[in-house]
Amino acid sequence: MTAPMGNRHTARARRHWVFGYGSLIYKVDFPFLRRELAAVSGWERRFWQGSHDHRGTVEAPGRVVTLVPSPGTVCRGMAYLIDESVFEHLDHREKNSYRRHEVDISLAATDTAVTGVLYVADEGNHAFLGPAPDDEIAAHIARASGPSGSNRDYLLQLANALHELDAPDPHVHGLAKLVQELTADGARP
Ligand code: SIN
Repeated sequence: MTAPMGNRHTARARRHWVFGYGSLIYKVDFPFLRRELAAVSGWERRFWQGSHDHRGTVEAPGRVVTLVPSPGTVCRGMAYLIDESVFEHLDHREKNSYRRHEVDISLAATDTAVTGVLYVADEGNHAFLGPAPDDEIAAHIARASGPSGSNRDYLLQLANALHELDAPDPHVHGLAKLVQELTADGARP
């Protein structure tokens, strides 16, 4: 059935930019209208969020990324223009305490700024693990796994995706190196 004109305008207004900085960069299991390399200011990516539902379990959580406020820092990732209906899927995927947060997103290719959202798991949510020394975080990631696969693969896929985007992140790449050392030569748990 053809939509009346009024509905078409409404449909156009229901498009939103979403900024992905973790698995949303490399696991794109949702439809999008456009995708652009992008950045947000004032945030840094940290493996400080517990994962009960994807890369760990409630009893043995994994460690996945969230963003923490960091004035002056630029976090690079991927922005997707999506139809509003896609939020149902994304909200479910990010259900372990991630909340939509409105931000300004800089789109690299066109050098434009748009308003959009990102999913952030704030300090104090029930699954938040917070900071720890890198070798502890690496050992934690090396042993954890959950319904979506191993925590190691989450980290290494993210490190690889950031490398391919030419968007290096010392926190992610430092942990990836430690985890690869820990799990080398058949020592992988
Ligand atoms: C994101 O990728 O933007 C959110 C965190 C994640 O799902 O890994």
